Amino acid sequence: MYDFSISQNQTPAELYGDLTSAAAALTDGEPDAIANMANISALIWQYIPDLNWAGFYRVIDDELVLGPFQGKTACIRIAMGKGVCGTAASTNQVQRVADVHSFPGHITCDADSRSELVVPVCKDGQVIAVLDLDSPLPDRFSDDDETGITELIGSIANSLG
Ligand code: SME
Repeated sequence: MYDFSISQNQTPAELYGDLTSAAAALTDGEPDAIANMANISALIWQYIPDLNWAGFYRVIDDELVLGPFQGKTACIRIAMGKGVCGTAASTNQVQRVADVHSFPGHITCDADSRSELVVPVCKDGQVIAVLDLDSPLPDRFSDDDETGITELIGSIANSLG
């Protein structure tokens, strides 16, 4: 068990700075990508408020396959280009969706989800996974969240595949 004593009562830049340091400590020297994804999804779940799902889908044989996550059970396979996750993976572009009901082809895994942030995980120039964060709040994710999560994932991407 790790105790990072991260305060949620600080600016987004401070919070994501602390989370990025914690993510580096958690993955340091650990080569197993699944173990690292498990701990990173737990870290995010513990310290980022107002989430109802946080986890990874891995790219396997040109398809997204459910990886380590926190939250309710979820759909296991997503085709590239489908839904928010498949769009992030096929375009290698962050998808920040203020209202999932207005996203064409959104895949409903948890009916509570209202907004979503999906960040591609790249290693050696390839998308190897995506991190998917869902919130029950509309328009939950800000520019600061997108920047902070993107930097966190970028800093440990080599430990996730
Ligand atoms: N909503 C996602 C599917 C994954 S679940 O939210 C965990 C999508 O449309 O890609």
